[in-house]
Amino acid sequence: AVTVYPDQHTAAKKVAARIAALIKNKQERNENAVLGLATGATPVGVYAELVRLHREEGLSFQNVITFNLDEYYPMQPTAAQSYVTFMNENLFNHIDIKKSNVHIPDGTLDQDYLQAYCFEYEQKINALGGLDLQILGIGRTGHIGFNEPGSAPNSGTRLVTLDDLTRADAARDFGGKENVPTKAITMGIGTIFKAREIILMAWSQKKAPIIKKAVEGEISGDVPATYLQLSDHVEFILDQDAASLLT
Ligand code: F6R
Repeated sequence: AVTVYPDQHTAAKKVAARIAALIKNKQERNENAVLGLATGATPVGVYAELVRLHREEGLSFQNVITFNLDEYYPMQPTAAQSYVTFMNENLFNHIDIKKSNVHIPDGTLDQDYLQAYCFEYEQKINALGGLDLQILGIGRTGHIGFNEPGSAPNSGTRLVTLDDLTRADAARDFGGKENVPTKAITMGIGTIFKAREIILMAWSQKKAPIIKKAVEGEISGDVPATYLQLSDHVEFILDQDAASLLT
């Protein structure tokens, strides 16, 4: 399904309201809400609205367990560019989530341990009954998480090599492309697919060409987001600009 809103502010509020409804619904049943989260510019407005709902409307995150999609590798959690820093600054520092309920791939591990670690990340999600909702952005390569072109539809959490365009897009955050890590740990397409609900968000003209491919293009590993067409529990939430090339 594709839903288009006039602007990203309106869209972000709608997505935040859906997350809040899920959390409250689970609270009433004394259950945890298990959320898959993304970083980057796209979800910032959603997190800001969740923080507002916490501060002004008493939304509690005590029953929320989160798994982030990805992290650069190698990456120290304290670095300005780490996704740990991003999540703390944009969401976790401002809500009442238990720190022990937050999971972000560890960019500090020795390569030798990574495979076991990634498997464990996957197992933790499964042990909690899977992700209730996965939030996604989309890269200009068509990546979801850091599943770059060539990723398999059944891929799991693993170490990947970042596409050149992805590193160019991250250059500003790192003060030059040469400083952007060449690798990352990411949940796989298969991991993402297991979520009971998936929301992919995209804003602005810059995303219009890749959104056209993702929504209307041939399903292919060349554009990993096209795999989402195979799922009936995926919703593309777009602003008018990102949707402007759709027929
Ligand atoms: C981030 C992630 C990426 C981003 C994508 C879009 O955790 O998994 O797939 O969602 O690169 O990035 P922005 O939102 O900065 O355009």
